[in-house]
Amino acid sequence: ASQSDDHDLVIIGGGVAGYVAAIKAGQEGLKTACIEKRGTLGGTCLNVGCIPSKSLLNNSHLYHQILHDTKKRGIEVGEVKLNLDQMLKAKDTSVEGLTKGVEYLLKKNGVDYVKGTGSFVNENEVKVNLIDGGERTLRGKNIIIATGSESTPFPGLTIDEERIITSTGALSLKQVPKKMVVIGGGIIGLEMASVWSRLGAEVTVVEFLGQIGGPGMDAEISKATQKILAKQGIKFLTNTKVTSGDTSASTIALNVEAAKGGKEQKLDADVVLVAIGRRPYTSGLGLENIGIEADDKGRLVIDQEYRTKLPHIRVIGDVTFGPMLAHKAEEEAVAAIEYITKGHGHVNYAAIPSVMYTHPEVSWVGQTEEDLKKAGIKYNKGSFPFSANSRAKTNLETDGIVKFLSDAETDRILGVHILGPNAGEMIAEATLAIEYGASSEDVARTCHAHPTLAEAFKEAAMATYSKAIHF
Ligand code: FAD
Ligand code: NAI
Repeated sequence: ASQSDDHDLVIIGGGVAGYVAAIKAGQEGLKTACIEKRGTLGGTCLNVGCIPSKSLLNNSHLYHQILHDTKKRGIEVGEVKLNLDQMLKAKDTSVEGLTKGVEYLLKKNGVDYVKGTGSFVNENEVKVNLIDGGERTLRGKNIIIATGSESTPFPGLTIDEERIITSTGALSLKQVPKKMVVIGGGIIGLEMASVWSRLGAEVTVVEFLGQIGGPGMDAEISKATQKILAKQGIKFLTNTKVTSGDTSASTIALNVEAAKGGKEQKLDADVVLVAIGRRPYTSGLGLENIGIEADDKGRLVIDQEYRTKLPHIRVIGDVTFGPMLAHKAEEEAVAAIEYITKGHGHVNYAAIPSVMYTHPEVSWVGQTEEDLKKAGIKYNKGSFPFSANSRAKTNLETDGIVKFLSDAETDRILGVHILGPNAGEMIAEATLAIEYGASSEDVARTCHAHPTLAEAFKEAAMATYSKAIHF
């Protein structure tokens, strides 16, 4: 390698984990390269994940609301038409603006952005097959692997991203399918089911477990969410598995049966979305050349400071342990750089919020009631319905509740679960409370502006250590 290809830090992957690490490293004065093979920065999240999905969720919600929820508000509208092409363009515009913005930030912080696929030659060198042709070999004193994750395939159904799709195909369908079956009622399944059902598809979600929302959603909240989504027109088959599918005819035929075995039934669909989880992505990375280990789920094994058994090689984001969330990846990126430059970093894994961007939204942080029962922890529970909140009432958006769980002895907040309007924004307050070890009384005694949805949060806290005023 030439002199100029020596770096303090080489990052493989320009997703949220990789690009945030690159910016932070640039700020800390490390000579840094960031290798990305996609051709744009931002990874899954910005290109085919968080951002495009939220664009479609927002605009499909507006469309659905204009169709079904204006009369009682005193708004009479004329003919409403869907222009799917334009809705997809609006999504692309948001994505493009943000990925270009990240490229600008890398430049501003002096990061060498290398477009191509990186592969380990040995413990210190990464060879890059450049997108524009040719090769470059980068040497790194430190190396960070941030190669992310990919959709888990469903055996027997080959993804073509047109009829059998992953979330990536679900973000670019050229027309609204008549019938859509979603395999997996986790977050991806429910967000995409919402989009296409609002735009007119007849959507059936097939979920293996008895409850929807994926791992981590509180059972009481999950049940209430399913009821609301069903009212919006999404059909649910829980405790059910897809056993096989036939794609040879113009309509796809799926065989499903009870999860524990039982009578088969048939479902037909124009489009099938496979959303049964995501798995770490390391193919083509040349890990065999450096002997780094993965666990049985393919996650790269690291210690508390994100180090592999080769201490100058660290791993962050979806490709290692923990929830596959963009903000988790971002926290790890900053901490990993601080470990390199300062020797200490901080991520509180007990205070990472989750948000599902359906309507209404669902959000949570900390432990569920089921977690606490299983761990034998005694807790107090307080909840407050949005139907008793003044702002929710004025907005005619009263579905949902805020639920607090606090330690029975100390009143320290152990978990907060919200189903309701703006739940995704409101969970930040719960996360801050947990981060600072607050009690439900601490939150309840904090003045909240009136009339706001956040008052439902305060009153749920009141109901946990004492009584709510308005319910
Ligand atoms: P990624 O974003 O996957 O980035 C890894 C990058 O590495 C990729 O760009 C890949 O091209 C590149 N790469 C891989 N191998 C190589 C190589 N050998 N050489 C060079 N480059 C390589 N999370 C949220 O928090 N909120 C959400 O609302 C949300 N919505 C989502 C919606 C969908 C449909 C999906 C699929 C995911 C969503 N997520 C969401 C999850 C989020 O996208 C991920 O947690 C996040 O992208 C993880 O970041 P990462 O950097 O670890 O991995
Ligand atoms: P998931 O793990 O959340 O949900 C998958 C669901 O599929 C589970 O409920 C599981 O029981 C079910 N399932 C598994 N195998 C099945 C089978 N054979 N038949 C029927 N059901 C089956 O995974 P998902 O939804 O694919 O999302 C992957 C990850 O992406 C999430 O865990 C999350 O970290 C991230 N994500 C985050 C979002 C957000 O923060 N808003 C949005 C979208 C994705």
